[in-house]
Amino acid sequence: MTINNEHNKQLVWVVSGASRGLGLEYVVQLLQRGHRVVATARNPQKAQGLTSLAAKYGDALTLVPLDVLDPATIKAAAASISKAYPEGVDVLINNAGVSGTIARSSEQDEDEFRTILRTNTLGAFLVLKAMLPLIKKGTKKQIVNISSTLGSIGEEAKFLKENPEENNTRVMASNAVGYRASKAALNAITVAMAVDLKKDGITVISMCPGWVATDMGSTATGTLGIEAPPLEAPESISCQLKVIDGLTLEKSGTFFNHEGAVVPY
Ligand SMILES: NC(=O)c1ccc[n+]([C@@H]2O[C@H](COP(=O)([O-])OP(=O)(O)OC[C@H]3O[C@@H](n4cnc5c(N)ncnc54)[C@H](OP(=O)(O)O)[C@@H]3O)[C@@H](O)[C@H]2O)c1
Repeated sequence: MTINNEHNKQLVWVVSGASRGLGLEYVVQLLQRGHRVVATARNPQKAQGLTSLAAKYGDALTLVPLDVLDPATIKAAAASISKAYPEGVDVLINNAGVSGTIARSSEQDEDEFRTILRTNTLGAFLVLKAMLPLIKKGTKKQIVNISSTLGSIGEEAKFLKENPEENNTRVMASNAVGYRASKAALNAITVAMAVDLKKDGITVISMCPGWVATDMGSTATGTLGIEAPPLEAPESISCQLKVIDGLTLEKSGTFFNHEGAVVPY
């Protein structure tokens, strides 16, 4: 049978933070599309969603331990992925992340700030760097950094201009400085790597998944006293995959939301 549908080509995808939430849903939908997936997680054998998928999909799914806070596990993961897929990796979904406590920015705990930056920014960079030799060998050569509009300084400036009275603790604008800073810095990594890697034919983007009902997304509702997240993970991921399907090298360096709209940096 001739495969003429791009989605059904057996591409190799690596997803970080795949134990639950958006990362796990990426793995589910990529396997449903017929791709080969490397799901990385701090402890994949204890992630029930992943072990059930491994039982169902066999060789199409490889589970690899990777803690983005531990550079040794990142290097070991890259080595084991290279062994499993010497032909390289097509797409990296750089997804692992933490939000920290959603609290007033002026009350952000120092240690927690450090952990958020080490996870969402440095961790994502180290994963990207370790996977780069494999991405260079792949056919699609795409890197998707899962960011957030909360890291968009442009969105924030627009919000503040349009809502000059909204300066109390109930609005998201005054919260989560550590998370915001980590994603703004991740966006800077996207732009720098996109410029640097264009000559290698590698596309690097930032992606905001929308506000999604995962462990992380739902935590924000309780703290802020606002309604449930508008999106479920399956919808966010199917939208994100459509955006990724449409990526070209010319779009490298762009910050998209799940609907494919361009988010200002
Ligand atoms: N949900 C939203 O509304 C929303 C909005 C904008 C952006 N995002 C971004 O989307 C991404 C996924 O978030 P989510 O909503 O799916 O959150 P989640 O349900 O809390 O899942 C977070 C994932 O990241 C993993 N992780 C955390 N620290 C890690 C580490 N040190 N090493 C490896 N993996 C680690 C977790 O693994 P463990 O199970 O081991 O903890 C888990 O798999 C994050 O980057 C987040 O910032 C989410």
